[in-house]
Amino acid sequence: MERYSRCHLGELPPHVFAIANECYRCLWKRHDNQCVLISGESGAGKTESTKLILKFLSAISQQSLDLSSKEKTSCVEQAILESSPIMEAFGNAKTVYNNNSSRFGKFVQLNICQKGNIQGGRIVDYFSSQNRVVRQNPGERNYHIFYALLAGLEHEEKEEFYLSVPENYHYLNQSGCVGDKTISDQESFREVITAMEVMQFSKEEVREVLRLLAGILHLGNIEFITAGGAQVSFKTALGRSAELLGLDPAQLTDALTQRSMSLRGEEILTPLNVQQAVDSRDSLAMALYARCFEWVIKKINSRIKGKDDFKSVGILDIFGFENFEVQYDVRGILEKNRDTFRDDLLNLLRESRFDFIYDLFEHVSSRTNQDTLKCGSKHRRPTVSSQFKKWA
Ligand SMILES: Nc1ncnc2c1ncn2[C@@H]1O[C@H](COP(=O)(O)OP(=O)(O)OP(=O)(O)O)[C@@H](O)[C@H]1O
Ligand SMILES: [Mg+2]
Repeated sequence: MERYSRCHLGELPPHVFAIANECYRCLWKRHDNQCVLISGESGAGKTESTKLILKFLSAISQQSLDLSSKEKTSCVEQAILESSPIMEAFGNAKTVYNNNSSRFGKFVQLNICQKGNIQGGRIVDYFSSQNRVVRQNPGERNYHIFYALLAGLEHEEKEEFYLSVPENYHYLNQSGCVGDKTISDQESFREVITAMEVMQFSKEEVREVLRLLAGILHLGNIEFITAGGAQVSFKTALGRSAELLGLDPAQLTDALTQRSMSLRGEEILTPLNVQQAVDSRDSLAMALYARCFEWVIKKINSRIKGKDDFKSVGILDIFGFENFEVQYDVRGILEKNRDTFRDDLLNLLRESRFDFIYDLFEHVSSRTNQDTLKCGSKHRRPTVSSQFKKWA
């Protein structure tokens, strides 16, 4: 780092630090914001390069400071670097091309002040592969965080969330691959929890996230049989996922097995067939995961937010396109599943007795703006905290 920070681009052999250095210097040379766009096929090293650039910029921006201000800013830089394990646990997965493949695009913006140090940042994600939550190609895995959860949770918490081994969950066992010898799920669980602490996630928030993930795993184990439309055949999984998601089991059953629509003010219920019920279940799981991921990023952003009164360096790590045929299919599946995420499912989630889940969906707008739906009262039943808010 030292060497590259003292030389101009081209003076030393090619290195990602040379690009990072040039980028930093150009803020003053060209009086303009800079952006590094990293492209390449899956496994090429985009995410690793992003991290190296961040490290370099963090180190070089520290050099420009006197000792007293170093302490103040190192928190922001530390936080930006610490966000990687969290982002990777939630957004990366083992694929046949890369055992830590990013399944989302990421843009990191660093705000740099006139003196040259990083004073804040922002992460924008382009999460595009929700379907991995519910199905994976042979030899691939779901997002790391699910396996980390199962490997790293303490015994009591595991019992409390009714969790066991990955082989027992439909969302983890379909591909025939639950582990990789280069990945330590237990280790990555510890890393994520530590990183969350550094990022000032409260203990309660970490718990809410873990419970939601456990709820998704049990949701995936709900099975259906045909008996005058789809019926839930495995009540244990339904009960567990309802409990962990704070939902009423009967309402969850109804929302998964029938569709409710409002026609000229009248509520119409249509039974779903088994395939449609499976699609509803999967779209619920994908929506929960996607909102949780968004929430995590929002939380990180609130931690790394800082002044933006000079210039910025942006780094775009776009996720790998390894197989266009698969990408095409993925899009098809996404469209299909988006369609099955109906308003009554949205309203069901807003009925959760856990504020965390309610809050995740509070601002998701209804697609059809129907106002009468099976599971949803339009307004949330009052909770103690909402009563307080009203009186305040
Ligand atoms: N600079 C590096 N030093 C050491 N190992 C590296 C480096 N770059 C990449 N690797 C190795 O290659 C693997 C894949 O790299 P990385 O995850 O950055 O690829 P990617 O381009 O982001 O792929 P994807 O598009 O699938 O996310 C890493 O897990 C690591 O083992
Ligand atoms: Mg990557």
